[in-house]
Amino acid sequence: MNNSRETKSQTTMEWEAFYNLEVGEKLPFFQQNQRMLDVVFAQQFDRPFLDFICSLANQIRQLARTKMGAEHLRNILPHKRAMLYFVQPSTRTFLSFLNACQILGLNTSEIRGTTTSSEVKGESQEDTIRTFSSYVDMIIVRHPESGFVEKTAWVLNQTERRVPVLNGGSGPDQHPTQALLDIYTLERSFENQSGLDGKSIAMVGDLKRGRTVRSLSYLMQNYRDVTLYFVSPQEFRMKQDIKDHLAKKGVKFTETDDFESVLPLVDGVYMTRIQKEYSQAPDSESDYYPDFFFRKEHLELIQSHCVIMHPLPRRFEIEVDVDKDPRAVYWKQERNGMWLRAALIAYLFGVEEKIMEEFK
Ligand code: CP
Repeated sequence: MNNSRETKSQTTMEWEAFYNLEVGEKLPFFQQNQRMLDVVFAQQFDRPFLDFICSLANQIRQLARTKMGAEHLRNILPHKRAMLYFVQPSTRTFLSFLNACQILGLNTSEIRGTTTSSEVKGESQEDTIRTFSSYVDMIIVRHPESGFVEKTAWVLNQTERRVPVLNGGSGPDQHPTQALLDIYTLERSFENQSGLDGKSIAMVGDLKRGRTVRSLSYLMQNYRDVTLYFVSPQEFRMKQDIKDHLAKKGVKFTETDDFESVLPLVDGVYMTRIQKEYSQAPDSESDYYPDFFFRKEHLELIQSHCVIMHPLPRRFEIEVDVDKDPRAVYWKQERNGMWLRAALIAYLFGVEEKIMEEFK
């Protein structure tokens, strides 16, 4: 890209025009040869894809159990390199992507803060991203700004190095790969109860600024007869854009601040923390809402098959004593992220057949 002020301003206008399009209009821009190239929005995934990616994750998980299977996986993408650009704090998204790359043999490099890149010398974000693409075949991004990951993919898709860009969490907006691993966890948890179709799920906590619940809500349109219960303090209710989307897609949802009344009704409880990092006044805002904590005594209220989930990290939302209950699946959920992300990377490089052929 040219660095002149004039060109920058034109590029900015083009970006703003693109950013303001409906998501459905943008999706072809993130495809190549009629396949997904970049993973930016949860709205990119349809039911056949969700079923396929969960099945591929299961196959990778199974292969990785043996030395021979693990070696086969490591020999699939040793000629590819991935960059992890994580400039907002992360533990499990970073580590699960890193380990997913290692499972498939990819080499990785990482930047975990803008203070150690040439951005401190005044290099633009666009040039920084373009520089990454000179060295690697895939860029995985975690960023505090909504829209940054989308812009990264938009910029690169206009260059000769159209490498896949994956959204590892973009501000309070979306976390599409978290939503994929959440679906994978729900489908595995309900495999003896005909899967996620027909189930009722409560999402609890800061629904207004929680990107995980936003992305997961989008994915629910792919499942038949699902009912969502949005349980939150008044000030953290789910935003209208998600509610409008669900209404348009015919997904049933109810809003309430009565946590305990919902617990006996649902097949899954998805707990989230208060996202204080997005507060305008963090020093004066409370992040302690005990009426929305899952306590040990609540285990008596939920159904015997009901799963308790959390994208983690947790603060006070789930009492540590709950961890021992077999219905608490959040530790499995975070590990599922590694298998699911390995499946996603394999799909993006078009090597899924090399995994599936081991099962023929
Ligand atoms: N669930 C999740 O995104 O966790 P991290 O912030 O630790 O990556």
